[in-house]
Amino acid sequence: MIPVCEPVIGKRELEYVSSCLKTNWISSQGKYIKEFEEKFAKYCGCRYGISTTSGTTALHLALASLGIEKGDEVILPAFTMIATAFAVIYTGATPVLVDADKETWCMDISQIEKKITKRTKAVLPVHIYGHPCNMEPILKLARKYKLLVIEDSAEAHGAEYKGKKVGGLGDIGCFSFYANKIITTGEGGMVVTNSEEYAEKARSIRNLCFKKERRFYKKSKNSVNKRT
Ligand SMILES: Cc1ncc(COP(=O)(O)O)c(C=O)c1O
Repeated sequence: MIPVCEPVIGKRELEYVSSCLKTNWISSQGKYIKEFEEKFAKYCGCRYGISTTSGTTALHLALASLGIEKGDEVILPAFTMIATAFAVIYTGATPVLVDADKETWCMDISQIEKKITKRTKAVLPVHIYGHPCNMEPILKLARKYKLLVIEDSAEAHGAEYKGKKVGGLGDIGCFSFYANKIITTGEGGMVVTNSEEYAEKARSIRNLCFKKERRFYKKSKNSVNKRT
């Protein structure tokens, strides 16, 4: 059998995971999350990174942070992983599908405009199989009709469009770190954006809208796990 996408787990990964276990920082906080968020966002050309439990939750969080809700329509490609459409449905909005382009298998740009209605709030291009969508016409349409652009970059870490990394081209970008992805954390995802407002909103919703000072684990003197 030829593996299509085998995770590579090296010495470093074991070292870091052991460090989390030894220090008891095993969930949502700790130095690695912050470092990962900052470095990954920077890599994508973005100021903010908000890590999540999966690519699906990243998409759901991004849409919710942009205020997408019931009654809204979001235009996305018919050819994608079903999680893209599910994330739209989770917000109560309606996914509106356009077909794939024969050459790139990404969404067919020529079909977008005729799908725009008064209810359309956003376009959600998917960089399928790591191939960047033709973003320029999408961004142009978004400006013309005042639509938000959410990039599903779950399969496209590091892919570039006209010299810029995908994920940082629209209003907000989403990544998956599932085991079959280019970078993996086992399960995981990330929202990236250059908007402070969207980043704040995403952090708040991720933390169940608790006040900033609440529901965060704090380091205590007893927090060091003595196991070796
Ligand atoms: C295009 C696309 N969007 C979203 C997802 C969802 O990511 P996850 O499996 O991490 O929830 C995937 C993952 O397979 C994907 O390929």
